[in-house]
Amino acid sequence: MSFLSEFFKNKSEIGAVAPSSKFLGKKMYGGIDFSEVKCIVEFGPGTGVFTKEILKRMNPDACMIIFETNPSFYQKLKEEIKDDRAVILNESAEKIGEYLAIENQEKADYIISSLPLTVFPKELKENILKGAVDHLSEKGQYIQFQYSLNAHKLLKEKFNTVKLAFSLINMPPAFVYKCSL
Ligand SMILES: C[S@@+](CC[C@H](N)C(=O)[O-])C[C@H]1O[C@@H](n2cnc3c(N)ncnc32)[C@H](O)[C@@H]1O
Repeated sequence: MSFLSEFFKNKSEIGAVAPSSKFLGKKMYGGIDFSEVKCIVEFGPGTGVFTKEILKRMNPDACMIIFETNPSFYQKLKEEIKDDRAVILNESAEKIGEYLAIENQEKADYIISSLPLTVFPKELKENILKGAVDHLSEKGQYIQFQYSLNAHKLLKEKFNTVKLAFSLINMPPAFVYKCSL
């Protein structure tokens, strides 16, 4: 219910009426070898469905930097996630560079994004993707889900390789883009 009411308050920022399914989550983070991960960044965790699962899989000395602009979701994440490895920020994903530096991290091994790119203004979308490209490690991946193929062209312009997967068991079904430099 909290998701639905936040959606009605700000449709273009939330971009979904319900949290994602665990099936979609597995398509997002299921292929990651967490033994190799030092720093993972999440854009738009919402109520934290992916965040909590990723934290279960991360090494004890890895860190997760989490950007959530919605104040209610941010508050809920702060209350529910008591984990020293998680840096939970009420900030926009555009600030990835600034916060990686504050956390003494050079690059992100993975960036997991649920941002509703399709409904974002062009400048915001460009700034976020530029930050992601500039701060993703050479062997890392930017993993993004969307409910349509609209972002395919844009992501192919920014990344060398974009692989597509599809999760039918989600409301609505979603495409997962796995992007590498
Ligand atoms: C589609 S919801 C996804 C939530 C969750 N990851 C899930 O899959 O259930 C998108 C989330 O992105 C957040 N968001 C929107 N713009 C943002 C921005 N510029 N930086 C960080 N988070 C943002 C919204 O507040 C919302 O929680």
